[in-house]
Amino acid sequence: MNAFYKRHFLRLLDFTSYDLNQLLRLSKKVKEMKKNNQEIKLLKNKNIALIFEKESTRTRCSFEVAAFDQGAHVTYLGPGSTHLGTKESIEDTAKVLSRLYDGIQYRGNHKTIKNLSKYSTVPIWNGLTDKFHPTQLIADLLTMHEIFPKKKFSDIKCAYVGDARNNIGNSFLEAASIMGLNFYLVSPKEFWPNKEIITLCQNIIKKNKGSIICTEKIQEGVKNADFIYTDVWVSMGEPQEYWEKRIKLLKNYQINKAMIDMTNNPEVKILHCLPALHDNKTDIGKKILKKYGLKSGMEITHEIFEKHEKTIFEQAENRLHTIKAIILSSLLEKVNF
Ligand code: CP
Ligand code: NVA
Repeated sequence: MNAFYKRHFLRLLDFTSYDLNQLLRLSKKVKEMKKNNQEIKLLKNKNIALIFEKESTRTRCSFEVAAFDQGAHVTYLGPGSTHLGTKESIEDTAKVLSRLYDGIQYRGNHKTIKNLSKYSTVPIWNGLTDKFHPTQLIADLLTMHEIFPKKKFSDIKCAYVGDARNNIGNSFLEAASIMGLNFYLVSPKEFWPNKEIITLCQNIIKKNKGSIICTEKIQEGVKNADFIYTDVWVSMGEPQEYWEKRIKLLKNYQINKAMIDMTNNPEVKILHCLPALHDNKTDIGKKILKKYGLKSGMEITHEIFEKHEKTIFEQAENRLHTIKAIILSSLLEKVNF
C-alpha cells in the first residue's frame, strides 16, 4: 500500500518505517533512471504550486526540476506574492489552490501549513517550517543508505551537533525514531528539542532497534560516529541578534579537526543540509566571522567542509530524487515504471 497517496506530508511521524523505506526505494529507482536517461514522465498534465514564504535554493529547485522531469507544471509563489494571510485567509487560499493544483508545496510557518492542510483537498508538502524539515531528512536517509548500503540504520551511529531544537533537529529525532538509528543529539541542553518530542521519539524507538541519546558531552556523542551532521546556528526567520549568544554557546560544537579526532574514526562522514557558513564568501559569513573574530567557518570549518564536500553535495543532489519520489507517491496510487 502507498501510504503517501493523497496524503499531506507535514512531518515524518505521520508515517512508518515501512512507508519511509518504500520512499527510499523509489528515490533510488528514480535517481538511477534519471542517471541512465530512462526517466518516464508519469505526471503529465499535473500542476503543482510552490509557496515559499522563506528563501530557498535546494528545495525550490528540487521541486521544480522533479516536476519538469516528470512532465508536471509548476507555479512559483514567492514571499509576498500572494494574498495568503494578508488579504485572503489561509482557508480561502487553500480552497482556491486545491481547485487549480494537484499538489502544493509550502515553506514558512508551521501554524500556516497546518491550516493550509486542514482546508486543502490536495496534498500539501512541507518544504520547511520553523518546526520541521521532513523532505530534507528523506534525502539524508538516502545519503546514509547509499554510503552504507549493507548496514541497517540501527548499525549506523549518527551524531547531530549544534542547534538541535530547530527544524532539522526535530525532524532528525523523528527520522531516527522511525528508522531506528543509533542517534546522538550533541548540544548544550538549552539547544535540545522540547521534552515532548524527545519523549515521544524515545518511546517510539523503544519498539525498534537503535537508540536516541541527548548529551552535552561532545566526546561521548561523536565517539565512533559514522556520520556527524550539523546545520546553521541561526535559522531563517530568527533575528540576527541571536548570533552573539549562539556563537558563545555553540562554538565548542563546531565540526572541526578536534571533533573529527574525537570520533576515533578516520572514515567518519560529514553531512550538512546546507546552506553552510563555512567561509567568508557570503555576505552573512563575511560580516559575522569578522564581527566575532572567527577565522574559519561557523558551524563547520572550511577545512573540514572542503574535505567532505563530495558527500555533502551528493546529499544536496539527493533532495531532487527524494522530492521526486515524494511527489510521485502523493499524486499516484501506484508508481509503475
Ligand atoms: N537544505 C535546504 O532546504 O536548502 P534550501 O534552503 O536552499 O532549500
Ligand atoms: N535550520 C535551517 C535549515 C535550512 C535548510 C533554517 O531553517 O534556516
